[in-house]
Parts: sequence; structure tokens; C-alpha cells
Amino acid sequence: MSDILQVRGLTKRFGGLAAVSEVDFSVREGGIAGLIGPNGAGKTTIFNLITGVYKVTAGAVTFEGKDITDTEPYKIADIGITRTFQNIRLFKNLTVFDNVLTACHASAGYGLFDSLVRTPRFRREEKVLRDKSIELLSILGLADRKDAIANGLPYGLQRRLEITRALALDPRLLLLDEPAAGMNPDETEQLMRLIADIRDRFKLSVLVIEHHMDLVMRLCEHIVVLNFGQKLADGTPDAIRGDKCVIEAYLGGGDE
Ligand SMILES: Nc1ncnc2c1ncn2[C@@H]1O[C@H](COP(=O)(O)OP(=O)(O)OP(=O)(O)O)[C@@H](O)[C@H]1O
Ligand SMILES: [Mg+2]
Repeated sequence: MSDILQVRGLTKRFGGLAAVSEVDFSVREGGIAGLIGPNGAGKTTIFNLITGVYKVTAGAVTFEGKDITDTEPYKIADIGITRTFQNIRLFKNLTVFDNVLTACHASAGYGLFDSLVRTPRFRREEKVLRDKSIELLSILGLADRKDAIANGLPYGLQRRLEITRALALDPRLLLLDEPAAGMNPDETEQLMRLIADIRDRFKLSVLVIEHHMDLVMRLCEHIVVLNFGQKLADGTPDAIRGDKCVIEAYLGGGDE
């Protein structure tokens, strides 16, 4: 099975601080991989390097066999990578439906002229995008909230809405930055099943940053452990659970 994403020698320095240091890992095509590590380990920085938000200091990012190092962020979705953010980013004052529709528009085929003059092409495509938005909301369990204002949704549902927006851009690789943050155990469990379901249904690959170890261990087929910007270990959940370095540095020594 081939890799959809490869990260080689990835390094990011902020002044004197090496936030990410010579990190290597891969995400298998169709796989769900986890990126874990203590606060400040460099997890979000890696997402920002993959998506071009930060320029890399050294190293390379390869997606579907092509070098995409330092691709501008606005081109990343077109390439096939979308993400969610650790701090939720939504149009807070728009409805749930409009949040998804605006994301769908980003990949629409019509231009400004079509939309101003409301050409037949515009109306045809607009209908397709509206149907697509409703379908996505149904799959993500948000259809009955479609007219609610995003800001008024419970936290867990806002996170789901952000995932819906990321899916609206038709990614082949989905990057999720702490999707279960702020969720109760019930919501976390549902989210875990949802992520696995999304992967199967949309035939995509997932890289997820997550602090809930239980979720990571059950959801991911492959886990990368970071500590102080360096890769500590890389392997199956069982291998990670038994890794001496990980236990000492991250899982809290022999307390378990
Ligand atoms: N733009 C920036 N300028 C300077 N330092 C930064 C910047 N972004 C991140 N850092 C530093 O890089 C290190 C890694 O941060 P990062 O946000 O990647 O950690 P993280 O693993 O996502 O942590 P958390 O679990 O808290 O989200 C931290 O020391 C952080 O302060
Ligand atoms: Mg982070």
C-alpha cells in the first residue's frame, strides 16, 4: 500500500527554538494516522508546515508522490488537503447550512459573471452545491441544525461543523487538530466512529492530532509520537503502548 503523505527531515525553527526537528513519517493511503505528544511538542506546527502556513526551515513534504514543500496555503485545498484548527474557525454569525455552502463555493466551477447575472450555469451549479451541503450535513448528523447560527451550537457540534466544512472541499487527506477537544466522553466516542465512517465513505486518508489517548489508540492504525519537536517513536498502537521511550517521556513512567 502506498503512502499519500511523506514528511522527510522536517524542521522548523522560530529564532533559537526548534519547534520541529528533523521529523520523518508517512501517512498510508486510506489510513488513519495519529500525531501525539505533550503540549508544545510541535504537532500543530507540523500541520502548519504541511499546509504552507509556515515556511519550512529544512526538509520536504511529499503528497501523492509530488513535492509540495512550501505550497501557499490557498493552494493546499486544490491539491487535495484540508484541515480543521485547534481553535475552531467558523463563520460564527452564519447558519450551519451557510457555513457549509460557503465552503462548497470555494470549489465551484462558475465565475463572478455567472453569479452576478445568475446564468443557467450558476443556477444549475448552485442547486448542486446546496444539495451537496445538505447531504454532508446529514452524514455528519447536523441536518436538523442546519438553520441554527453556528455560534449557538454546543461546542462538540461546532467541531463537527468544522469537519463538515473541511469535507466540503473534497479532500483526499484530512488533517484534524484536536477534534475531540472540549468534548465529553460520549461525544468523543461518537466522533471517533464518525471519523472512521468518513474515511470509509469518502475514501480519504486522515492525520489526527489528539490528546485523548484512548481515542488515538483505538482509531489510528499508525501513531507518531513527538516530544520537544523530535520524533520519539512511530508505529502501531501496540508498539507505541509498549515503547520504553514513550512510556518514560510521555505516558508518565511506570505509574500505570
Ligand atoms: N509562530 C510561532 N512563533 C514562535 N514560536 C512558535 C510559533 N508557533 C509555535 N511556536 C512554538 O513552537 C512549539 C511547538 O508549538 P505547537 O503549537 O506546534 O505545539 P503543539 O504540539 O501543537 O502543542 P499543543 O498540544 O499545546 O497544541 C512551542 O514551543 C510553541 O511555543
Ligand atoms: Mg497544537
